[in-house]
Amino acid sequence: MNKNLKCLISAGPTREWVDSVRFISNPSSGKMGYALASEAKKRGYSVVLVSGPVRLDKIEGISTHFVENAKEMELEMTNHFDSANIIIMCAAVSDHRPKNKKSGKIKKNDFAKSIDLVENPDILKGLGKRKKKGQLLVGFAAEAENFAQNAKQKLIQKNLDWIAMNDISNPSHGFGSDHNEIFLYSSTGEEVKLKSAPKNLLAKQIFEEILK
Ligand code: PMT
Repeated sequence: MNKNLKCLISAGPTREWVDSVRFISNPSSGKMGYALASEAKKRGYSVVLVSGPVRLDKIEGISTHFVENAKEMELEMTNHFDSANIIIMCAAVSDHRPKNKKSGKIKKNDFAKSIDLVENPDILKGLGKRKKKGQLLVGFAAEAENFAQNAKQKLIQKNLDWIAMNDISNPSHGFGSDHNEIFLYSSTGEEVKLKSAPKNLLAKQIFEEILK
């Protein structure tokens, strides 16, 4: 088994607060990332899961670190990165956050003009820069058009070994659903289609492919 090998996985959305009652987020349920964590555990890895806010049960035997926003997720992922053998970034990270969180509730008439957005760090790109020989870095790509082209661009720009692309314009797949359909692209030119299936089965197939 892989007892002495560590697998680091991120899952779920990030939440970027605008004021005390509103935030910027996305519909990621965490199901895909938790399925990957569960599969890694079955394969005997020591698993660290960095999770955004989700409504899923904690998986027994997996060290889970809950975070809320992108900066917190970046910190946890970076802290665990150097000692990890396989790193899978499945979380849907908000690309922007409000410059300052306002306390209380912004008045309706002031709302539009009071959100000043700044860019969040690209966590995966940062991990790609830190990657050492022997580490396997896998990203996800949530695409609605130019699927292969956009995914392959992310694969290169973020220095990944593999990218798992899903078509998020299909409501029965991707965000929130129990199923997904994945296209895997590797840095060495491999292309694998994993046909529509429950996320736990896809998690198994993803591990089979990236470890071949
Ligand atoms: O959680 P579920 O409901 O099961 O849905 C699963 C999923 C659709 C969220 C998942 O399969 C998925 O596609 N996750 C990646 C979503 C995403 O943010 O994709 P992206 O193409 O915008 O980003 C590309 C990669 O960069 C991703 O690995 C992402 O984690 C990472 N990223 C993006 C932005 C950012 N600021 N930092 C990052 O690390």
